[in-house]
Amino acid sequence: MILTTAHTKGGVSKTTTTWHIICELKKQKKDFIVIDLDHQRTIYNLNLYVREKNKLAVFTADNISQLNKILEKHQEQLIIIDTGGNGDQINKLAIQKADMILTPIGVDSITEVIGFKKFEAILKELHNPAIKILFSNINPRCKNFEDIKGVTSSYKNATTLSTTITSRANYKQSMGQGLGITELQPTKNSSYNTRLKKSQTEIKQLIKELGV
Ligand SMILES: Nc1ncnc2c1ncn2[C@@H]1O[C@H](COP(=O)(O)OP(=O)(O)OP(=O)(O)O)[C@@H](O)[C@H]1O
Ligand SMILES: [Mg+2]
Repeated sequence: MILTTAHTKGGVSKTTTTWHIICELKKQKKDFIVIDLDHQRTIYNLNLYVREKNKLAVFTADNISQLNKILEKHQEQLIIIDTGGNGDQINKLAIQKADMILTPIGVDSITEVIGFKKFEAILKELHNPAIKILFSNINPRCKNFEDIKGVTSSYKNATTLSTTITSRANYKQSMGQGLGITELQPTKNSSYNTRLKKSQTEIKQLIKELGV
């Protein structure tokens, strides 16, 4: 089973979401590998700092042949791919090979609309694979997603996940410590703990909803 996080628009939270998913899956002792196709190799590099017993199996691929080899070798395992924010051949292959495509998308700017239209054109070129849209990095006060739903509904093979990932500093901070959000422990600060619990619940709920 291949789960690919993909959107050609940059900065929509592909890597952040993927990181927190894989750290929770590791906690759940799931058997999986990760392929990091993001140019910045964030997941690959973060994993270098993870304590030995928690290390993830993270691979990188620079071309299609390398990617195909990794996919073939690990075909019996769950494979999670973080794609880069562009529509080049290697990212297209990661989309084509996916059994499930997770597409994080923001809601609050015209650039999201334009960005989605570009991605939609690539999906059409790839024969309209099904995508699961995740509203991500969303202002906690934002409750109305109707505008962006109006845009994404033009792509008929999209479903919108009911889980939403809120914009919270703890998502970034935990990554900075080489940890997933669900690995953070509560502190003495109760408002910090409330936000932490909310973020942890979002990631666990997302994994449940995806069924991985
Ligand atoms: N839920 C969140 N809360 C707070 N900040 C977030 C959240 N999700 C993403 N961010 C921030 O938004 C920025 C972009 O996120 P990220 O790198 O995950 O996007 P991306 O889609 O992987 O980008 P690229 O296309 O460049 O690979 C980062 O600074 C990240 O820390
Ligand atoms: Mg990224």
